[in-house]
Amino acid sequence: MTGSAPWWKSAVVYQLYPRSFADTDGDGIGDLEGIRRHLDHLQWLGVDAVWISPFYRSPMADFGYDVADYCDVDPVFGTLEDFGRLVQEAHDRDLRVIVDWVPNHSSDRHPWFVESRSARESPKRDWYVWVDGRPDQPPNNWKAAFSATDPAWTWDEATAQWYLHLFLAEQPDLNWRNPEVVAAMHDTLRFWLDEGVDGFRMDVIHALVKQADFPDVDDPWLSTDRLDEPATHALIRGFRSLLDGYPGGREPVSVGEVFILSTAKVAEYYGDDDELHLAFNFPPLFAPWDAAKWRTRVDRVAEEFDPRGAWPTWVLSNHDTPRHRTRYGGSEARARAAAVLLLTLRGTPFVYQGEELGLENAEVPPERQVDPGGRDGARAPIPWDASAQHGWASDPWLPWPPEADVRNVERERADPGSVLNLYRRLLAARRASPALRLGSWSPLPSPDGVLAYQRDHDGGRRVVIVNFTGKRHDVDVAGDWTVEIASDGAGEGRRYSGAVGADQAVVLSP
Ligand code: NOJ
Repeated sequence: MTGSAPWWKSAVVYQLYPRSFADTDGDGIGDLEGIRRHLDHLQWLGVDAVWISPFYRSPMADFGYDVADYCDVDPVFGTLEDFGRLVQEAHDRDLRVIVDWVPNHSSDRHPWFVESRSARESPKRDWYVWVDGRPDQPPNNWKAAFSATDPAWTWDEATAQWYLHLFLAEQPDLNWRNPEVVAAMHDTLRFWLDEGVDGFRMDVIHALVKQADFPDVDDPWLSTDRLDEPATHALIRGFRSLLDGYPGGREPVSVGEVFILSTAKVAEYYGDDDELHLAFNFPPLFAPWDAAKWRTRVDRVAEEFDPRGAWPTWVLSNHDTPRHRTRYGGSEARARAAAVLLLTLRGTPFVYQGEELGLENAEVPPERQVDPGGRDGARAPIPWDASAQHGWASDPWLPWPPEADVRNVERERADPGSVLNLYRRLLAARRASPALRLGSWSPLPSPDGVLAYQRDHDGGRRVVIVNFTGKRHDVDVAGDWTVEIASDGAGEGRRYSGAVGADQAVVLSP
């Protein structure tokens, strides 16, 4: 590693969606043991850390983002012992482990909520957000996510009050204005740190504290004017001191899901280097495949993040959004060029399982749809080989992604020209280049439809050219350059010709 930069600045994080990664007990749902058995593969690929989506005890109304016990593993995924073994063996391979932390809401089956709901006088009543009202009139116009019409409130007959849930009724929001909740949730962070984790991806972290008195808002569906409160920033400073003060020198990282589509707002969640270490910034994730639009979003990050010394993150795909290859029109060439972009911008990239195989979203017929948020297509199982069951002992919980007979790990590992081997070459190139990992970013002149930039660190330099168009473009770069990586593999190791092909991206080294 270079200088004294913390590990997470140089790292590439691989997002594991455990239900769909690898199954070892034959129930058609992936498990922790499945992850453990494929650690060698992740090491071969060359990622530095994994973020594992929730594997805690859960009724699975939101597939694990409804937590019924913050400190235990759901039997469908295995046991705490399995988790311990996984962390140990990941660390043996220099792979860091980040877990998902879901602090905004618990499951309605969490003992805290069961207790809270039992009576108005319950000692845990104030652990959740309860308000008076009429049973036929929700307290305000806030809507629950996943639906344009359902109120964010559910009436509890037995105790005659409404409770708040920004997501499903099965996901009641915790009351973060209550110090007992803060203390209890700090304990859950310590629990996983004691289990050896290297950090937390923090779910909808901007949403913890709601606007006082719950006013009606202009946009009642996940609008940020009802959230994004100063008190949330104070809570995040508390998480940060807990992590930074944790003994052992592990430098645990916080990666906040700040679901606000304003890069300026996202930047505020880094505080004065005393809030989040990293925050997701989703405007690029939702950008179309368009050089000018990407340029604007990359510039916005530099404008808002650099003055604060905030370190960016980059994401093309995750378990909530259609896969980027699908969003970019299904083109493998674009998905490959996008991989070059993702892994060469300045910041910490997140790779979502399966994008390294060039997977598209699965077609999920209505009778197999299970997610209340309509996100099944991005969550299809990973095909491990070309056999009919693709390395799974039984039919998985969701249908296969397209072309699983050729787009599977075994085939792509063996094919030097595969998308998988492109990711592997890019990850190796990053690892070997301080400029790509930690260097500055500056744009280079380029024709419309092309984004060109250089990365510099301590005299080391890489040039990256991404052609977002279906036409070949001449792009002059002063000096002599070698094609270190080409998204289609063409010309690697040879002198840069002065042009990039249609939908091609290249990394040039001096
Ligand atoms: C964001 C998570 O990524 C998503 O999957 C989940 O449904 C919501 N937060 C609620 O926890």
